[in-house]
Amino acid sequence: MNTEGVVLSARSLTKRFGGLAANQDVSLDLWRDRIHAVIGPNGAGKSTLTNLLSGDIVPTSGTVTLGGHDITGYPPHEISRRGLGRSYQKTNIFLPLTVEENVRLASQSRQRHRPWNPLHWVDTATAHAAVADRCDRALELAGLAARRHTVAGTCSHGEQRQLEIAMTLATQPQVLLLDEPLAGMGVCCGSRLSTRSCWSSMTWTPSSPWPTTSR
Ligand SMILES: Nc1ncnc2c1ncn2[C@@H]1O[C@H](COP(=O)(O)OP(=O)(O)O)[C@@H](O)[C@H]1O
Ligand SMILES: [Mg+2]
Repeated sequence: MNTEGVVLSARSLTKRFGGLAANQDVSLDLWRDRIHAVIGPNGAGKSTLTNLLSGDIVPTSGTVTLGGHDITGYPPHEISRRGLGRSYQKTNIFLPLTVEENVRLASQSRQRHRPWNPLHWVDTATAHAAVADRCDRALELAGLAARRHTVAGTCSHGEQRQLEIAMTLATQPQVLLLDEPLAGMGVCCGSRLSTRSCWSSMTWTPSSPWPTTSR
């Protein structure tokens, strides 16, 4: 089988918590430009699988490959840097900060620092523009542009879920894993986030020095 379009692979992933095997011998391929879903009842092991793929937990056995590179056992920040973004079942945001500040923090995590560069002030100016661009685009995609100055802690549950997804989008991931993204959302927020155009309108060319955005 031609696996050229596969961006993330798991092979024989197993995670044991003591005597309980939350995931056993799981193998899967995620393909570029496709939406995949993992379904199952509570306790089936969906969050555990997401945590294994993102590096939040280390597998008991098995391997994870991202973009053809074995990332098994890598820490989450390194896997994120390599292009895997994820949201959590339990919302993870900075409540005292505004919506925009939350997203900007995520966007800033993608900037490279080159202090040895004698023209670093040019770098800094370019970086500011790139951070702002990613931030604006992520807010727009997640439907939060009009709420950017709102303190995150005062947002509704649905908006906080949208915000976490905006933060993930601001890192311009190659692969986006969403753990129960619509949980607790109303019809309005849920349908806005589930439109395919939202997910397909961000592109990132991994070979380019900075992520690029297109519509
Ligand atoms: N850190 C943990 N320690 C012990 N057991 C866990 C831990 N995380 C998950 N489990 C168990 O693993 C199983 C799968 O959980 P989970 O992956 O959260 O399922 P799902 O997301 O499909 O509801 C459950 O029985 C759960 O209690
Ligand atoms: Mg879960």
